[in-house]
Amino acid sequence: MKKLIRQGIKDLIPYPPGKPIEELERDLGIKGSIKLASNENPLGPSPLAVSAIKQKLHTLNRYPDGSGYYLKKKIAETYGVPVDQIILGNGSDELIELLIRTFLSEGEHAVQPFPSFLVYKTVVTGAGGRMDSVPLLSGFRIDLEGISQAITPETKIVFINNPNNPTGSAISKDEMVDFLNGIPDQVIVALDEAYIEFVTDDSVSKGLELLEGHPLLFVLRTFSKLYGLAGLRIGYGFGSREMIGYMNRVRPPFNANSLAQAAAIAAMDDTKFVSRTLNVVREGLKYLYQSLEELGLEYVQTQANFFLIRVPIGGKKTYELMLKEGVIVRAMDSFGLPDYIRVNVGLSGENERFIKTLGKVLGLN
Ligand SMILES: Cc1ncc(COP(=O)(O)O)c(C=O)c1O
Repeated sequence: MKKLIRQGIKDLIPYPPGKPIEELERDLGIKGSIKLASNENPLGPSPLAVSAIKQKLHTLNRYPDGSGYYLKKKIAETYGVPVDQIILGNGSDELIELLIRTFLSEGEHAVQPFPSFLVYKTVVTGAGGRMDSVPLLSGFRIDLEGISQAITPETKIVFINNPNNPTGSAISKDEMVDFLNGIPDQVIVALDEAYIEFVTDDSVSKGLELLEGHPLLFVLRTFSKLYGLAGLRIGYGFGSREMIGYMNRVRPPFNANSLAQAAAIAAMDDTKFVSRTLNVVREGLKYLYQSLEELGLEYVQTQANFFLIRVPIGGKKTYELMLKEGVIVRAMDSFGLPDYIRVNVGLSGENERFIKTLGKVLGLN
């Protein structure tokens, strides 16, 4: 078997999926645990999206609209980008796959900041490519100059995550413009904006504003976070007409399922849910920052719906102890940050329980 698998697969570490919460609770003999580990929306899914799904259920005998006509039209109208510059994916995860399958040949080279979203390296390596990782600067900022310098004639794609997962740090428009202007002509920039809607700092770059002048820029967005549709798997991307055209050659014809398309259209009109979500994150961060300061713990200010906390006993130990108390957070070992946990903002009761439990396991209460 080993001889059969393509180069790069052997060295991959499978994504460690957590057990279903129900199983975890059974194993640990607990009930009512809370999950703050995957940067999800704590309010649940957009109610308008849920209604749209219900209305669409009777069509499940039919294949989805492979062109994503209505959803792409809605996205085009909302963002002022022509329909043929938009592509849909089974989550933005799939768009990362499609980009790599369309453009990166075996042996070619990509660059990413590290730590950043772990999927970039998995996909590049799985396609037989090589990933170079450029460490973050102090203050967890992405080293754009270092990334530019890491580009070689073999480099095909550069990944930038803005705001960056897991640090929550963001790049300003001026920095992004300088960076893009300095990128060689043959290099694609994949700008992953999974959390862009949570940004509160006006100076932060928005990829859509930069599309026109940069034909090799690909901007990725998702319905998983702001709209609470992570389980449905629907993401979207913007690029030049030519780039999207090539990606469509590789795209499986029915990659965006019919329930997801209907739900996403409805979610975009759910302004009430969107403002409730943004409010929960804003208020939650205020409470969490203040409570952590009272506990004397260091944290990293974020532009997203999650952030890093430095824990004196290490992230893995903290994760294990909190899990036993029914509070699920993410240890940051696999992101190269063993002293940190990452936590997303929850509902106010969840945030309070998180703080209380963290204080307890660290012996600070
Ligand atoms: C930075 C980043 N990009 C992409 C994704 C994937 O999102 P989706 O659910 O659309 O596949 C995530 C999910 O956590 C993420 O953190």
